[in-house]
Amino acid sequence: MNQKLSGKRIIVGISGGIAAYKSVELVRLLRKSGAEVQVLMTPDAHRFVTPLTLGTLSEREVLTEIFPPNQTGSWTKHVHLGLWADLMIVAPATANTLSKLVTGVCDSMLTAVALSARCPMMVCPAMDHDMYEHASTRDNLSTLRERGVAVMDAPEGLLASGLTGKGRLPEPEDIAERAAGLLADHSPTQAGPRVLVTAGPTRESLDPVRYITNRSSGTMGFEIARAAQRMGCRVTLVAGPTALETPEGVTRVDVETAREMHAAVLAHRDADVIVMAAAVADYEAASVSRDKIKKADGDLVLQLSRTPDILRELGARRTDDQVLVGFALETRDAEKGALKKLHGKNVDWIVLNNPTEEGAGFGPGTNKVTLYGRDGRVEPLPVMSKADVALAILGFVEPGVKRPG
Ligand SMILES: Cc1cc2nc3c(=O)[nH]c(=O)nc-3n(C[C@H](O)[C@H](O)[C@H](O)COP(=O)(O)O)c2cc1C
Repeated sequence: MNQKLSGKRIIVGISGGIAAYKSVELVRLLRKSGAEVQVLMTPDAHRFVTPLTLGTLSEREVLTEIFPPNQTGSWTKHVHLGLWADLMIVAPATANTLSKLVTGVCDSMLTAVALSARCPMMVCPAMDHDMYEHASTRDNLSTLRERGVAVMDAPEGLLASGLTGKGRLPEPEDIAERAAGLLADHSPTQAGPRVLVTAGPTRESLDPVRYITNRSSGTMGFEIARAAQRMGCRVTLVAGPTALETPEGVTRVDVETAREMHAAVLAHRDADVIVMAAAVADYEAASVSRDKIKKADGDLVLQLSRTPDILRELGARRTDDQVLVGFALETRDAEKGALKKLHGKNVDWIVLNNPTEEGAGFGPGTNKVTLYGRDGRVEPLPVMSKADVALAILGFVEPGVKRPG
């Protein structure tokens, strides 16, 4: 078991070679070490090992086709996976798949993700000795090396063809060990853009024991912070009251009220990207009672006053280089509300979600959002886990960011 693999997100791409059976063991080893594993198989890999075995061991659906039958609205999956992963391993890499990786052929989920992945990539070629030594294969491998892909040389030994020579797939333990080394070498340097994220509800006191709040769990904002950190960004997370754990490597600033969130956001607004995912209270008590409000006969009328509009203020003070993203939660006239916020508050993107829609809403689990861009783009996303929604949002937003240096 390798500690360095724990918590890492690894794509294992399997192409159609006889050594595919060893990838089953590789997936098991990676899972045992605490890594999350997404298996991608070429269509021909199905002839050698079953998706059922790999799906069971990885505890995730194995993906093969870019256009899966009976599925709509998930065309961006290859992009999300490319952002999700910390490492992509192709083992075994057939001569055929190697040539596709070199020329950019994009005809299956494996080859599509390989093109969009931002993480380090490692290939483990495995084939008959003569195929391995062929000039095409040698050229393809050296091209991949030149592009920064880690190539594990195929060890010598008895091959499935009955010949002896180079072309075997390295043992799964050795592949896992090399993967751990690569992940350690590529641990994010956090030299990427500075990202400020807000998350969670706010709590507005009425008296020393009571407050007004909302149903936000903070999950969406925390997932955005986690995903941005994994992409190498320097992330500050301003969080309202929530029990969620701070994502690794993220600087967290805890606040309680809308006024505290306002102050914390302004103090940290010098960021390249600001994503305002928090559900900030629009109203606070006009005056907070020093003592507990006593029960009395008859009704109690509370007077509430407006809290500062943080997004509007950020929009007014923004620089041209900054990317500003707001969230809109609407239950009626949703699109109208989102567009009003987009233009009225001078932001680049509004992420609209309607908690009454199926698959959307508060708490862990899934969300369903539509992104509205200042340039007129409208990007409806299917129901996805909040972690995937976070990746998708950053995928749209982050290309607009000027990188340091
Ligand atoms: C029994 C059998 C074993 C094979 N083993 C290998 C192999 O180890 N390496 C390889 O590069 N191709 C091997 N091939 C050829 C590939 O399966 C073939 O090129 C296929 O199209 C690869 O598709 P893919 O790269 O999309 O998975 C084998 C073919 C057969 C019939």
